[in-house]
Amino acid sequence: MTAVGNICGTTTDRRAVISLLRRLRSEEGHVNPLPVWEELRALGDVVRAPWGGYFVTGFEACSQVLRGRNWLVPDFAWQERQPDPERWQAPATREMTRTLIRLNAPTHTCQRRALGNPFDRTTLESMRPGIAALAATLLDDLAERLRTGGEADFVPTVSEQLPVRTVGEWLGIPAGDFAHILDFTHRQVYAQELLPTKSQLDVSAQATLEMRAYFTELIRKRRAHPGNDVLTRWIHYWDAQYPDDRSTADQVVYDLTMFITIASLETTAVLLTNAVWLLTQDPSRAAWLRAHPQHIDDAVEETLRYDPPVWLNSRVAADDTVLAGTPVAKDTTVHVLYGAAAHDPRRNPDPHLFDMLRGGGHLTFGGGAHYCLGAALARLEARELLAQVLERFPTLRPTAPPAYDTSRVVFRRITSLKVTT
Ligand code: HEM
Repeated sequence: MTAVGNICGTTTDRRAVISLLRRLRSEEGHVNPLPVWEELRALGDVVRAPWGGYFVTGFEACSQVLRGRNWLVPDFAWQERQPDPERWQAPATREMTRTLIRLNAPTHTCQRRALGNPFDRTTLESMRPGIAALAATLLDDLAERLRTGGEADFVPTVSEQLPVRTVGEWLGIPAGDFAHILDFTHRQVYAQELLPTKSQLDVSAQATLEMRAYFTELIRKRRAHPGNDVLTRWIHYWDAQYPDDRSTADQVVYDLTMFITIASLETTAVLLTNAVWLLTQDPSRAAWLRAHPQHIDDAVEETLRYDPPVWLNSRVAADDTVLAGTPVAKDTTVHVLYGAAAHDPRRNPDPHLFDMLRGGGHLTFGGGAHYCLGAALARLEARELLAQVLERFPTLRPTAPPAYDTSRVVFRRITSLKVTT
């Protein structure tokens, strides 16, 4: 039984929830989801989803689900019990279900332990100069486009490039492959949507085939030509775990490499774009931060809180339980809404204010056993990029709000942010 103080239970107003979800999917909802978060939270900390299961809107209840041992990720065993084989048996869904984010203990514990902390302080310090140099090169490109065209798109020029080049270099992936990786990543994520359509699953299935072919070949080549890199170390480690079973070792290395790569790209790109958008849409914010660069980390943290790159994550009740006063039966799905949680005024007073000094709380990198393994790397990329943007482009400003892929509400994608100086 779960005890949550001072938070309220569920509503059954189905039409209200459907209408809010429609708004969230609209252009308006993507540009400004805050009214939707507020209205959803007003319906309760735990809100019944129209198709069964619940949305979790309050900060404490979300935190409790992410950290609680009685909440599991929806793994193969759960998926096989579901009545919707088209969704759960789809190849793109199954590909993701073998990865860390869909594994429960003990397999999850074993893989996390093997990975350790891939971005510990020493590793990050060794990566910092390279990330700063990459950011400088991308901003040179931005400067040139601004000089020649007067306007440039920050997303394809900078935000999407820094994460793929950073993680690509870390894994020893050839630079010529980055565009291909970005391309299949953008299409593969549809299978992880809340309610993917048949055509989204088809797009995702094709991208999954390309992704599998790419990473399988990458690992094959690395076996043939080992280097002093992370991927080679993973191959050695998993070969030692399965000395008589090369195909299982290959499968684990594939799952890790593929997942860490795609988990790091769109998420970090949205953070970088959001940081620039939120700081430059109000020039006084950028001016203040330029005068107080010691608060760049705080600006990154407030960006993560204000508009999380991932909006939703799902868990399943391991047993009959009670969440925020709402009984939840074993096997029921609950969807944690990171944005609604971050704008819960009980956790962050005046939540709709972008306040770089608030020192607020957020769950943008998740929590508990599945806490994001790349959080420190994403923060470092954002910090290095922002420092240079502030210094080199004192008059940078958006010419329009960002454009979004509005067909997504789980892994968000900002497709464009036009800027000028
Ligand atoms: C702003 C950027 C990022 C955001 C917002 C983000 C968000 C998340 C979230 C919400 C989770 C799930 C946590 C849960 O289920 O409780 C997660 C897991 C994960 N993330 Fe990130 N992520 C980001 C960047 C990265 C980067 C750069 C990497 C790797 C280089 C990465 C690797 C992972 C991995 C491996 C997991 C799975 C952990 C597990 O299930 O044990 N992420 N991330």
